[in-house]
Amino acid sequence: MDVIKLGLGGFGTVGSGLAKILDMNADRIAKRLDRKIEIKSALVRDLNKKRAFDLGPNATLTDNPDELVNDPEVDIIVELMGGLDTARDLILKAFAAGKHVVTANKHLLAEHGLELFQAARENNVGLMFEASCAGGIPIVQTLKESLAGDKVNNMLGIMNGTANYILSEMTTKGMDFNTALADAQDLGYAEADPTFDIEGFDTAHKLCVLIRMAYGVDYPLEDIPVQGITGVTPMDIQFAREFGYRIKLLAHVMDVDGQLEAGVHPALVPYTYLIARVGGNYNAIRLTGNAVGPVMLHGQGAGDLPTGSAVLADIMHLIRHMKQGVTPDNTGFDGLAIEKAKILPPEESESKYYFRFTVADRTGVMAAITKSMATHGVSIAQAVQKGEAGAEGVPLVIITHETRAKDANAMIEEVDAMDFTVEPCVKFRIL
Ligand code: NAP
Ligand code: HSE
Repeated sequence: MDVIKLGLGGFGTVGSGLAKILDMNADRIAKRLDRKIEIKSALVRDLNKKRAFDLGPNATLTDNPDELVNDPEVDIIVELMGGLDTARDLILKAFAAGKHVVTANKHLLAEHGLELFQAARENNVGLMFEASCAGGIPIVQTLKESLAGDKVNNMLGIMNGTANYILSEMTTKGMDFNTALADAQDLGYAEADPTFDIEGFDTAHKLCVLIRMAYGVDYPLEDIPVQGITGVTPMDIQFAREFGYRIKLLAHVMDVDGQLEAGVHPALVPYTYLIARVGGNYNAIRLTGNAVGPVMLHGQGAGDLPTGSAVLADIMHLIRHMKQGVTPDNTGFDGLAIEKAKILPPEESESKYYFRFTVADRTGVMAAITKSMATHGVSIAQAVQKGEAGAEGVPLVIITHETRAKDANAMIEEVDAMDFTVEPCVKFRIL
């Protein structure tokens, strides 16, 4: 039986996960492909570090990227190191050497995806990236193949396992933020720099990649409004619970009369919705196609085996194409140039909101806030004030009806400047 050889760029959490699955499911893989898959070499930074999985005597560890791309026996380069510059160089050199590439690197794809897809096309090679979005959930293939004929009206989801793990632990166990983050790091969910997870940037990277797959256009990363979860306090989680919601970090995109509206925000989700029940490192994506209607995918969004599973699926996809002597369609839009999206300005977007004002507990405060809301066309659905008389600041929580972002922001600016305001207003969207 022929053997397909892999050069792994990176042998950390995901690289080890891939190696474990190749070992665990070797017979099944060979039966499906009529080929064996072997790791020939793996690129690492530290050759002396203890590894989670032993590569065996036939594979070598190296700290020289050129050893992978210059090795004529390596058929596919699998980039699993993360970061931008070294990963980009490795992939471009792999293309130039005529090698196909699989990557899990959403940051790289969001920043340099257009360049990489172009280079893959020019070199007639495959660039597969299922693992880059939502870990083990097959959302890339779903958009590219299963729903290829549908127009996606909207897509919304939990796309970061670390952030979802933190919010779940804070909500269900009352765990503090930093302990939950440390756990997520220990479990292999977090990025090398976890700021990407907790500040929403990793979710934005995935959203950027998925918008390309769903709509065939580029929504530049810098145009996506991003709010992370570091501002979500136990108090907000408790208020949300009392109003019948759970707080989740969501990414969303929707087609509003031919313009795309997208963003990443913590949001209050009615607790009866499936997406509110998605816990731990799980992710979920709900989309609506104009033919298929609503579809929901749910699964582990981070971790060695779930992510390794998605990487392996891409490798097998490539091998099937290699056997037929054809190059896969990388973007799902048949090699067409990806043009910039028509974007609805974020301030024109509409949502229901949760506002938590921290104010002095004195006469006239509620009247002043509601007057400002009325002036800016912000309509109140529910309100509650809690706290002890005499405290320096008490929380006043207001839930609104549908409101334009521009109006909400103008109202907050006005109220934050009032003399009774003790802390700036906390604002979350409501689904
Ligand atoms: P990781 O555990 O930190 O592993 C990274 C690997 O790459 C390590 O083996 C490291 O070498 C090597 N490496 C990093 N920079 C290098 C450089 N400049 N030169 C040579 N080797 C280098 O990361 P990971 O969690 O596996 O993530 C890998 C990629 O998958 C990232 O793009 C990440 O965003 C993506 N991803 C991760 C998950 C997840 O659940 N972890 C899920 C989906 C996607 P050393 O071992 O010697 O340090
Ligand atoms: N750090 C990412 C997460 C890994 O927590 O979702 C999966 O992309």
